[in-house]
Amino acid sequence: MPAADAEAARACAFITAEIDRLSSVVTSLLEFARPLHLEPRPVSVRELFDRAALLAEGELAAKGARLGRDESPALPAVKADPDLLSQVLLGLLANAAEAVPFGGDVTLAARARDGAVELVVEDSGPGIPAELRDRVFEPFFTTRPRGIGLGLAVARQVIEAHGGRIEAGERPGGGARLTLRLPAAGDSAVAA
Ligand SMILES: Nc1ncnc2c1ncn2[C@@H]1O[C@H](COP(=O)(O)OP(=O)(O)OP(=O)(O)O)[C@@H](O)[C@H]1O
Ligand SMILES: [Mg+2]
Repeated sequence: MPAADAEAARACAFITAEIDRLSSVVTSLLEFARPLHLEPRPVSVRELFDRAALLAEGELAAKGARLGRDESPALPAVKADPDLLSQVLLGLLANAAEAVPFGGDVTLAARARDGAVELVVEDSGPGIPAELRDRVFEPFFTTRPRGIGLGLAVARQVIEAHGGRIEAGERPGGGARLTLRLPAAGDSAVAA
């Protein structure tokens, strides 16, 4: 390609961007279809949040979003596959970054409750309408023009394979709140 050919440069940039997009479509489809192989170990919430924050840095920066953290230092470790869990958190942070207006707020929070650990991802976007809070976990449910609708479906598969639960709700004051409930390390199941 001649260096000065602006038209060709534009075409190449378009092709590269579309290859990236298709690659992420294929990755999502494979993640959804492939049987899950968990390698759970006791892992600290701080490690999970640090990894997810690093993975989502680009998405959050593109929206000028601030990532707040609110986790007590005395939290028990969770029994989780750290690779799968940080991918789930990345998906939730990506959704939050999509949803917030420029300069919006996104928060990662965690608390211990009844022998389980709750991880919470909140944002200052428009929130998820109450009537859609179950449907958003259905495969291929999306309201985004170029969304695939597999992010939350995969998140639910992964969390349930850990013996946990995931729920969509509302942040006090508006915005979305996604809550993951996971067994604390040492527990074999999360109390219902
Ligand atoms: N933080 C959020 N705020 C508002 N709506 C949300 C949020 N997270 C998810 N949703 C809604 O849930 C739908 C499904 O989310 P999901 O992550 O499964 O798919 P997606 O983001 O549309 O596509 P992708 O497969 O690329 O992740 C979204 O299209 C959106 O309507
Ligand atoms: Mg998504």
